[in-house]
Amino acid sequence: MRRFLFSVNGQLDAYDYDVIIVGTGIAGLYSALNIDDRLQVAVITKANIDESNSYYAQGGIAAVMSKDDNFAGHIEDTLRAGAGLCKPEAVKVLVEEGPENIRELIKMNVPFDINEDGDLQITREGGHHMRRIVHCGGDATGRETTAQLGNIALTRENLHFFFGSYLVDIVTDEKGAAGVVIHIGDDYQFIRARNIILATGGIGQVYDYTTNPLGSIGDGIAAAARAGAIVKDMELVQFHPTTLISDGKQQRLFLISEAVRGEGAILRNNRGEAFMKGKHELADLAPRDIVTRFIIEELKKTGDNKVYLDAGSMSREFFSERFPTIFAECEKRGLHLTDDYIPVRPAQHYLMGGIVTDTDGRTNIPGLYACGECAETGIHGANRLASNSLLECLVFGRRAARDINAAMKTQFIAGKEFSISTEMFCETVPVEELNSIEREMKHIMTSAAGPVRHTAEMAAAMERLDGIYAGLKDKKLDTPYAFKVFNMNAVCRMIMSGAIARKESVGSHYVVD
Ligand code: SIN
Repeated sequence: MRRFLFSVNGQLDAYDYDVIIVGTGIAGLYSALNIDDRLQVAVITKANIDESNSYYAQGGIAAVMSKDDNFAGHIEDTLRAGAGLCKPEAVKVLVEEGPENIRELIKMNVPFDINEDGDLQITREGGHHMRRIVHCGGDATGRETTAQLGNIALTRENLHFFFGSYLVDIVTDEKGAAGVVIHIGDDYQFIRARNIILATGGIGQVYDYTTNPLGSIGDGIAAAARAGAIVKDMELVQFHPTTLISDGKQQRLFLISEAVRGEGAILRNNRGEAFMKGKHELADLAPRDIVTRFIIEELKKTGDNKVYLDAGSMSREFFSERFPTIFAECEKRGLHLTDDYIPVRPAQHYLMGGIVTDTDGRTNIPGLYACGECAETGIHGANRLASNSLLECLVFGRRAARDINAAMKTQFIAGKEFSISTEMFCETVPVEELNSIEREMKHIMTSAAGPVRHTAEMAAAMERLDGIYAGLKDKKLDTPYAFKVFNMNAVCRMIMSGAIARKESVGSHYVVD
């Protein structure tokens, strides 16, 4: 694999910090807020605080917050959804540290929904045997939480935000992590630190159909792999059963939260049959991989391109209050809820694999941490349990920050410049060619690495992805778009090679032949 994306032989401007955090979803912001405020932190983000997978999360945060619930039940549901591939010790940490992190968010004034008695409202989603999910703004948990954490973070004097900056590469030396090269404006800069937390989110945009925002192409994972971090289980990609069908191509599909089924909606085919009945003990609330596959089976049987969510058991008033974002979007598209069925189909939603970490977020490279969706802690196994993802951001984001605080590695005092010599390439790739490669890779992934996979198709896809790599590896990459396409190719190859190597169907990895 090519070691660096950029070609430089000489000096870059260098800036010293104690800690670098890449990403401003909930994992990035919450870890930043948990770093000791005597440490100077560079927070790198290619977009803004309102553009991340966390921001768009609707359902909520799973945690044992009711007196009827217990840790054993949450652990059991997580392990069962993970289909035997979870790491039980990591799941235990996730579940047992959940409630204290929710209480921490409450102290930070994250506006959780409460009932008329002043208690937290708690809902249910797929794979959970009981109500266990706290939420904000009805169906706007990600937006409300990210906004509040962002508001606090922007006032912290030790947090220095680099908006609009692209993570190009992670630099390492004999001691471990040494800093990152970013592209900002038209320039490269070297941000130097011995502690780096990657919180760069998911990979959904390597597919044609995804709920993830445009930036989710896995550049943190690709950069970590180039630097020598262990990356694993990339073939374990989750497809959400219910995204809203839209006319024409949308870059990010609108999600219909599983909590809608948690409150009583059911799936029907175009003949009006409630097809999940009798298929699983949890019927419409079976784990996501299972519901997704039954939907695909139904689409094959009926020849339709969609199934329907029937929310008729809820009144219009209840629905609009409980799910204001979904209600507004459906009404905007001409659906009269809750009389009309909501047309839906599965789409890419989440990555279970990623950069391998221990329960303190540590990777195999000293000083390099990962948390949130880009990390592989072992908590999700082959299929993530609903609403464990924001919980993961909190629990492991805080753990990574605390590990750094405990070590308090000292800042570099090493001058204002940094010398680096990478491989030098001259020939660039025209934008039109990058465009066409991007489109082709998305089609390949959609057809060969979806919820139902075929051996021969995966082999052909791998060959083509390797061919694309061969065409790019000796080219000069010098724009964020060129970096993005190269990183997409790296991520696609990791997913496809993982899918080919995993011979047995498990959880979200389902091979028919
Ligand atoms: C949802 O609201 O259905 C999605 C939440 C999640 O991905 O856990």
